Amino acid sequence: MSLDKSLKKILIIDFGSQFTQLIARRIRELGVFSEIVSHKKIKNKDIGKSVKGIILSGGPLNVYDLKKYSFDKRILKKNLPILGICFGHQILSKLNGGRVKQSKHREFGLANIHKKKNSPLIKNFFKTKNFVKVWMSHADQVSKLPKNFSVVASSQNSKFAVVEDNSKKFFGVQFHPEVTHTENGKKIFSNFIFSICKIKKNWSSKAQKTRLIDEVRSQVGQNKVICALSGGVDSSVVAQLLNKAIGKNLYCIFVNTGLLRKNEEKQVVATFKKRLKINLIYVNAEKEFITKLTNVSDPEKKRKIIGNLFIKIFERYAKKIKNVKFLAQGTLYPDLIESKSVTGSQTSKIKSHHNVGGLPKKMRLKLVEPLKFLFKDEVRKLGLELNLSKEIISRHPFPGPGLAIRMPGIITKEKINILKEADHYFIQALREHGLYNKIWQAYAALLPVKTVGVMGDNRTYEYLCLLRAITSEDGMTADFYEFKKPFIQEISNKIVNSIRGINRVVYDITSKPPSTIELE
Ligand code: XMP
Repeated sequence: MSLDKSLKKILIIDFGSQFTQLIARRIRELGVFSEIVSHKKIKNKDIGKSVKGIILSGGPLNVYDLKKYSFDKRILKKNLPILGICFGHQILSKLNGGRVKQSKHREFGLANIHKKKNSPLIKNFFKTKNFVKVWMSHADQVSKLPKNFSVVASSQNSKFAVVEDNSKKFFGVQFHPEVTHTENGKKIFSNFIFSICKIKKNWSSKAQKTRLIDEVRSQVGQNKVICALSGGVDSSVVAQLLNKAIGKNLYCIFVNTGLLRKNEEKQVVATFKKRLKINLIYVNAEKEFITKLTNVSDPEKKRKIIGNLFIKIFERYAKKIKNVKFLAQGTLYPDLIESKSVTGSQTSKIKSHHNVGGLPKKMRLKLVEPLKFLFKDEVRKLGLELNLSKEIISRHPFPGPGLAIRMPGIITKEKINILKEADHYFIQALREHGLYNKIWQAYAALLPVKTVGVMGDNRTYEYLCLLRAITSEDGMTADFYEFKKPFIQEISNKIVNSIRGINRVVYDITSKPPSTIELE
């Protein structure tokens, strides 16, 4: 399914900056659709009428490394406004006849830029001051401006911090307006998209809801669609969107692996079957999973077993539904964008992530991926627009293999039960103390070690419970959350006093990297 081709947009050409997705999000937050395309993929001929302006992203390259990037110069002749950011600014200057060289003083971090003249790009950016704090990150800089370009603002080390050729509507900024450290950075984007590109607002969760429902209807017609529902944010939003679009032609399959959080299966059934009246097939496969996992302790083996069994069960039930033509999936926009590929430094796969994504390819079903142009925060807003509760929308991520990867060593029913309880107490306490939404992900894990304790006058020899709570932007990096002592003390007492099988609680204070978020 492709997005409505007539939807006007800002096109972001990605040269591999770690901030490219942020640029897209800033523009969408302002209410305008933006799309990211890799510099390797975009040719002059691909730029259709719906593109109203172009942003050239930053990137790790030097503009003279011509072999490492590609740029179709004819794009400059399209009569479209262009904003170059950092590397994008340098390449825009170079392609127009300017020069770029290594800076005498590399700039990383905050710098003050001073206004030299007015420009539509910086209207109200400086407010009443004559300087603004911006965030720089560059080793090269423009050393000679192209003909017809002029200086709009300078920093101590970058004379050409903001430049323009207003007749062509070409603008360049050496700093990063998309990062929050840049004061008032959003103004640069709103000036560019609204005053310079003259695009109108077209991107809100309300508009998306209507548009996506229409698109799903026209894609699937009267055919049946199946969807693997996990109860997580993405699959819940997909299910509810399809429910609104095609009602009873949607069949959701929810597999209880026995490795879910406490009461999760009851909540999913209550929400989706009873409240939202979705066709939900509930499969209790607890026994099958635990049998297959008996005596398995290798983390990768656990993931493979769970992933494969999940497919098998899903297929078994999907086959029972007649005339299914489509499979719905909660693929998101970041899954589609090939960012960071310029340097070839794509982070290698560290764990084999079991996702429903791509699973039942063998079934030859066509895919329905209504969220594939949305970022996670947009999916959440859409979910609220679709009447999903705040509780579902703000749930912490939960991995496909579930509690299995929070229980190093072999898995037993007894351990699962202990862990479910500990996790439940922890999450409940976070909610009661208003901490749940301040934390990106939190959970309890059960370590395969027993230690000595003393309870009453008795010596105990029981399991170690590990608590993890992290803050993060996207799960790629993370830091541990700093609890106050009374909270961490309260939860430790509660777990040890209420759960037979645990006599010690530890708190994980490692960040990612070097640790991962999950234990296995
Ligand atoms: P790690 O442990 O790699 O986790 O730092 C990053 C994020 O991904 C989640 N995660 C998974 N999600 N299947 C999933 O669907 C998996 O196998 C899996 N492993 C980790 C993890 O919970 C965290 O949010």
